[in-house]
Amino acid sequence: INNTMELPPRPKLFDFHGVSMTNYFTDNWDNVQNFQARPDDILIATYPKAGTTWVSYILDLLYFGQTAPERQRPIFEKVPFLELLIPLYPPGVEVLDNLTTSPRLIKTHLPVQLLPKSFWEQNCRIVYVARNAKDNAVSYFHFDRMNQTQPEPGDWNNFLQRVMDGKMVFGSWYDHVTGWWEKKQTHSKILYLFYEDMVEDTGRELDRLCSFLGLSPSAEKKERVRRGAQFDTMKKNSMANYSTLPIMDFKISPFMRKGKVGDWKNHFTVAQSEQFDEDYKKKMKNTTLQFRTVV
Ligand code: A3P
Repeated sequence: INNTMELPPRPKLFDFHGVSMTNYFTDNWDNVQNFQARPDDILIATYPKAGTTWVSYILDLLYFGQTAPERQRPIFEKVPFLELLIPLYPPGVEVLDNLTTSPRLIKTHLPVQLLPKSFWEQNCRIVYVARNAKDNAVSYFHFDRMNQTQPEPGDWNNFLQRVMDGKMVFGSWYDHVTGWWEKKQTHSKILYLFYEDMVEDTGRELDRLCSFLGLSPSAEKKERVRRGAQFDTMKKNSMANYSTLPIMDFKISPFMRKGKVGDWKNHFTVAQSEQFDEDYKKKMKNTTLQFRTVV
């Protein structure tokens, strides 16, 4: 951690086209909206903390491997974050505009209705990753504790209430996962992955990913990618673990925190879990999207 980096105070949430946001994701909005996608761009879309970095790293390994010297850069530089504009870093859009390698791998947390229209016009491939609500909330809580560019999380009980109210950066988890799910029903270029499936059998999900992308790596390459993207390997890898980004304080919580399914059980009380489940049923009653139970 670079302790000399001066950061403004924690940002505040505000309503942006019906979605809770902070200035770091809206300050560059005109440029984001007018972003020019290219037909071979690959978009990685997620609600924050659903496994974005994991899938980003897998895609980077698949397309560029580990050997190319110009790829020895942190994952957040190799897979630019479209809507991000934070102090000291060039805006995501600018980095992407200047990228000459292809395909460009692009990260976004935007809910489906806010995605710049050129991604649809260019018919880009989109990989969406969803994670069960409870683990996603726990991961987000620890992330907001350690990331100076996120709003103060407050205590866990309060945070959980905010999750249920959708008062999170990038809005409601429920709206995000169901919005992208509905879009996928009519748009064939979206692959909808689940974090839990990736944990259960990374190789199987890697196969799905490759067939979606039209890639046919050798068995050796696939195994290399699978191993390179294992949690313990990524956690030790400074190009994958965010340790080079000074806005995060790993003394509070590391970016590569646990990488588990079901860690929510160490955070939710029985009462919190029951209340959450009841609320969940109401919010998810009109969707065909189903997460496997994680009890
Ligand atoms: P935890 O906080 O539960 O550990 P994102 O990249 O979308 O911000 O998501 C971060 C979450 O994905 C963190 O969850 C992180 O540990 C987990 N993660 C990252 N790489 C992983 C991997 N290779 N295997 C399993 N989980 C991984």
